[in-house]
Amino acid sequence: MVRNILILAIALVMVSATMAFVCPPNICDMIRCDETVEINCLQRDTNLYKFEPEGGFCGCCPTCVRLLQENESCFAMTIRGAPRTVECAEGLHCDSKSVVCKRDE
Ligand SMILES: *[C@@H]1O[C@H](CO)[C@@H](O)[C@H](O)[C@H]1NC(C)=O
Repeated sequence: MVRNILILAIALVMVSATMAFVCPPNICDMIRCDETVEINCLQRDTNLYKFEPEGGFCGCCPTCVRLLQENESCFAMTIRGAPRTVECAEGLHCDSKSVVCKRDE
């Protein structure tokens, strides 16, 4: 009996953990985007920021992605399911060992 309850509890936790990474259809209807993101982003230094029209939560909202320079930590890029807020600048890639942006070879 106790064992069954335990199994049920574990199953519930697993289901909710999986669902957290799935974007339900129509989710964008419930999300209000910050409309100043685009204007603000395009005014910034284009070497450091990139406007991403669908970069936000579940692809619903635009984001301003900060471009990481060489040797900057790209740890935020490794989190699955998180909105993209950073990426390595052009010519760089996220090195999986050191978790910093490295020059492409
Ligand atoms: C990045 O780190 C490497 C290795 O530590 C170093 O050789 C290189 O000069 C660094 N680049 C910058 C831009 O700091």
